[in-house]
Amino acid sequence: MPNSKAALSSRTDPAHSTRAAARNTDSVPASPGTPAPGDLSAKRTAQTQDLVAAMPANTNKLLEYGRENGLAPPLGLTAEPASRLPTGSTLSESNSNDKVGTVASQGVNATIEPMDRVRVDAAGQVLTTNQGVAIADNQHSLKAGVRGPALLEDFILREKITHFDHERIPERIVHARGSGAHGFFECYEAQTAITKAAPFKQCDKLTPVFVRFSTVAGERGSKDTARDVRGFAVKFYTDEGNWDLVGNNMPVFFIQDAMKFPDLVHAVKPEPHNQMPQAASAHDTFWDFVSLMPESTHMLMWAMSDRGIPRSYRMMQGFGVHTFRLVNDAGDSVFVKFHWQPKLGTHSMVWDEAVKVSGADPDFHRRDLWEAIEAGEYPEWELGLQVFTEAQAEGFSFDVLDATKLVPEELVPVKIVGRMVLNRNPDNFFAETEQVAFCTAHVVPGIDFTNDPLLAGRIHSYVDTQISRLGGPNFHELPINASVAQVHNNQRDGMHRQAIHRGRVAYEPNSLAGGCPFQAGAAQGFVSVARRVDAQESVDKVRAKPEKFADHYSQAKLFFESQTDVERAHIAAAFRFELSKVTVPAIRQRVIAMLRNASEVLAGEVAVGIGMKTLPPPLPSALQIPVIPEVERSKMLSLLARPGDGGIRTRKVAILIADGVDDATVLLVRSALLAAGAVPRLVAPNIGEFVGTSGAILQADASLENEPGFLFDAVVLPGGEAAVQALAADGHTGEFLRDQYRHCKTIMTVGSSIELLGLFDIPGALPDGGADPGLITPAAEEDLVEAVSAFMAALAKHRHPARDRDPPPV
Ligand code: HEM
Repeated sequence: MPNSKAALSSRTDPAHSTRAAARNTDSVPASPGTPAPGDLSAKRTAQTQDLVAAMPANTNKLLEYGRENGLAPPLGLTAEPASRLPTGSTLSESNSNDKVGTVASQGVNATIEPMDRVRVDAAGQVLTTNQGVAIADNQHSLKAGVRGPALLEDFILREKITHFDHERIPERIVHARGSGAHGFFECYEAQTAITKAAPFKQCDKLTPVFVRFSTVAGERGSKDTARDVRGFAVKFYTDEGNWDLVGNNMPVFFIQDAMKFPDLVHAVKPEPHNQMPQAASAHDTFWDFVSLMPESTHMLMWAMSDRGIPRSYRMMQGFGVHTFRLVNDAGDSVFVKFHWQPKLGTHSMVWDEAVKVSGADPDFHRRDLWEAIEAGEYPEWELGLQVFTEAQAEGFSFDVLDATKLVPEELVPVKIVGRMVLNRNPDNFFAETEQVAFCTAHVVPGIDFTNDPLLAGRIHSYVDTQISRLGGPNFHELPINASVAQVHNNQRDGMHRQAIHRGRVAYEPNSLAGGCPFQAGAAQGFVSVARRVDAQESVDKVRAKPEKFADHYSQAKLFFESQTDVERAHIAAAFRFELSKVTVPAIRQRVIAMLRNASEVLAGEVAVGIGMKTLPPPLPSALQIPVIPEVERSKMLSLLARPGDGGIRTRKVAILIADGVDDATVLLVRSALLAAGAVPRLVAPNIGEFVGTSGAILQADASLENEPGFLFDAVVLPGGEAAVQALAADGHTGEFLRDQYRHCKTIMTVGSSIELLGLFDIPGALPDGGADPGLITPAAEEDLVEAVSAFMAALAKHRHPARDRDPPPV
């Protein structure tokens, strides 16, 4: 970076404002500028503006009234876009793979190609019925006379309304709210010694994937930033069939046996009498249930930690949760736990921030994922395997078939074997993200199950629910679900069958079709590992759990002990908040009694937080023999153990402006942030034009009202006397800065704008008097370039926990 402000601002690209604005999906300046050459997002924004502007009014409206007009309906209005950019769904459309195919051809509905056949482009086409009949009039129902009754004969109206009536399908029973993207998995090194699974067969092999992230408890339209577990489901379209790794962002689960899953979900979903609360576990039935199910303690620790409120889907880990098996060509098998590790590191929100974001932008995570992919900032995870033998597992102090337990990384290290990149947004949310059907039963040769009793229930559950959610048994034929590998079997008919099978043979064995399709045999086909069923004649049929499942607290303790002080404080605060929403004191008592078995410190703090003066006795332990854990502290269980690559790419930064702002500073900061891949936004009291100190016109991307402070990762106050005064007079500025401070984000003031901190009671130092690492306040203008570097370094830290206080000082 050159060491002068003038040098930097002179390099400022005049189209920066347009570029910065176009990378967002929610608010743009009052008048978009001219896009820089090659900047597709900005070009799309500008062309969309022109396309819409080409239809300033529906002039056909004038021709909708009267008998004569009714007899001769006009041609519909149409405008031609400058290019295909504004009418497509996503800029990432040209990232192609075997599954999604290529880009839709203009005006073509090619219904005979694998995936392209269902992509519809209506450019230049007239409206038709579902039978392909051109519709002359899309404004009126057919009536007996201009003022007469509507006629049953109107097949066009009835077809349109009937289809509309059935537009919604049942939402997922859990994980209803989610967002998805396409991408690929790349294998770093062949893993054939341990598995013959197709994605791991060769170094550099690429396998197409579709991923769906979700919350669990809320309905389809619920907020993204609820405190909840996040689903992390990956469909690998391998050349040997589909493999679905249907995981979560936490490595353990609430329950141990599928028998309890409906109870768990009934307890956490909105209460059945009044259907409240939406997307929240902070209510009686959830805490009633979990406190009667102490095996949930470990998972509760995770859910109450900041893992329950991730900053972004792009910044969370994923886990297969259950122990699975890997099987090699020789039929030898080992146990495995799957881990996804985000390249950007693991980062979360703080609770106050998550609550506010849910109001201002319920689509926060969906928008974040979409925008990153549109900007070409493709999210990336590495896949890690924890591989261990059955003999090793026997020696562990916990049972690897118990989904409430993890395998500490100190016991079995994670080996990185490949990476996953998400590089294409869906064309259509419903067709892809909503209709995708993941299932734990979808495995390929080389992957197999263990006897985990939770996993067994899941293997049944997904297809079963999808038959009703997706309207019959043929949803595997939906383009998003269809495998890349050829499908040939004798299953026939059912609702919505698409395959048109040739011939008269639908059975096996047969000779009329030459025996086809015939079974693949062990060399090519899926063979279950023989050892997975160890029941013998002499073993009783039982409904029971293994003894080690009775240890409900060792790993809850391990998790809590492994957290940093600030993470522990957040866990305590989350329990305090959730339990304060419980309306039955006895439920609170039971939760505290349960927590005492994991951590007396935590139980004590939460009890104080909910005004409980006397602690109840700890819940009785189900464990006969005390467990001696192999690992008592695991630093990799802390969120802070994975800071990521230390960059600031895709971080959103607000630069607050008003008339009289120091425009040279604005341009310098914005230019430096853009160069580092961040997303700077000019935020002003309202959107529109603002004049800087040197006469430069700045377009505000957003207003203090429509994009409040908590939506940003950091804020810059560029200075300029008149602007400082204008911002000081606007109460929104105070809220903006207080939220940034309270959420421990990076704040930079330049020149006289430091006065705003004092005005809005923002402390200038840490409570112990030390320097606040998140406050960058250069004393003199000459220090600006250095200060911008310091600001970006502080921003890369994500937030500054040294400032974290409960309750907050401002
Ligand atoms: C016995 C226990 C469980 C049962 C019966 C169960 C059942 C279900 C059902 C019925 C769905 C909706 C599927 C659909 O409509 O397409 C679902 C979704 C999901 N479940 Fe489970 N589940 C269980 C445990 C788990 C566990 C332990 C995990 C994590 C490892 C998990 C992860 C997911 C995910 C990620 C989804 C969303 C998939 C998507 O994005 O479409 N579930 N589950």
